[in-house]
Amino acid sequence: LDNGLNAKPAMGWNSWNAFGPTINEEIIKDTADRLVALGLRDAGYVYLNLDDGWSDLKRTADGRLTANKTAFPSGIPALAKYVHSKGLKFGIYADAGNMTCAGFPGSLGFEEVDAQTFADWGVDYLKYDNCYAAQQQWVVDRYTAMRDALNATGRPILYSLCNWGVAEPWLWASGVGNSWRTTEDIEPTWDNVVKLLEYNVGLSQFAGPSRGWNDLDMLFVGNSRLGEYHPFGPFYQEQRAHFALWALFKSPLFIGHDLRNLNSSFVDLLKKKEIVAMNQDELGVAGDLIWQQGTRKIFATALAGGSRGVVLWNLQTTQSQYPLSNITVFWEQIGLGGSQRATVRDVFSERDLGVFSGSFSAAVAFHDVAVLRVTPVEGPLDDSWRPW
Ligand code: DGJ
Repeated sequence: LDNGLNAKPAMGWNSWNAFGPTINEEIIKDTADRLVALGLRDAGYVYLNLDDGWSDLKRTADGRLTANKTAFPSGIPALAKYVHSKGLKFGIYADAGNMTCAGFPGSLGFEEVDAQTFADWGVDYLKYDNCYAAQQQWVVDRYTAMRDALNATGRPILYSLCNWGVAEPWLWASGVGNSWRTTEDIEPTWDNVVKLLEYNVGLSQFAGPSRGWNDLDMLFVGNSRLGEYHPFGPFYQEQRAHFALWALFKSPLFIGHDLRNLNSSFVDLLKKKEIVAMNQDELGVAGDLIWQQGTRKIFATALAGGSRGVVLWNLQTTQSQYPLSNITVFWEQIGLGGSQRATVRDVFSERDLGVFSGSFSAAVAFHDVAVLRVTPVEGPLDDSWRPW
């Protein structure tokens, strides 16, 4: 969408995965404080988004949405002000049907008044959900009506389409929103993370700074259910595979965990500078699958300045006696010359591993990833290669 808010995938925190519809202003204010104190705001997580459950069951007498008074006694404008005072941006949630998924008033037919209300409140981001619309009300019309209403307010409001359940949104959504959901809701299991990634293979060509972004849904980094079915607990490896691949695919990155009990190793993971930099890279090329054989997969993307971002993924389904899998990326697979010399950097440890000609191999642990930045030693540096 051409509203000046497409340049990079959005980053922030969203209330839904951790709190569902029982969210309140104390939690939001506390989360704002913690985003700052934990260094997450400065790492790029600037949007603080209030999801479904904030609204009263009824509109006001003059037809406006209003917050639930018990959970938000100070009201949304005061909350937005608090969030802004912390150097953060404030996001809210509404629905393109007659009710939100949790049963609060929907915005269908109220697009103009609701967009104006959000603009008056100082909202910077709208997540627009897709529950309770009749089949005959075409999804593109419903989402376009809110786009136009937001546009008419004159306030820049990032417009995130939560158009789950709609086939192939990437074919129309780039003219309507800044990002669009490509799948149904994420679940905190390894199998679901794998499924969402597989579903997004082949979609990188539809994303970019001039279009908008495929949204793989909020992160489950920090959730202990990821990894619980594996007795040997490749817990950290699964979390970082999840995070690195969301970043490489240029998905918006929204933390979904309660910051009051996010283990510090996951705070550090979310702040990994060079992973975040791949997601926020100027060139804005989404990563995609470039090779697979059995349970070994390679994903890659082009980065500004002629580097490539590469993720080697070991997807073994059972932890065998050989938990390490050797995976080799050949330079020709990522648009470099077959005998070209290139520096390989380990993105997680932020260390150069050396200069390699033609290929690089890593032994990747069960469910883990190796994330590499490959940069040709001699120019010309060519960033025109694409993973599709
Ligand atoms: C469905 C969306 O996909 C979720 O992310 C969340 O916003 C819920 N609806 C809220 O009801």
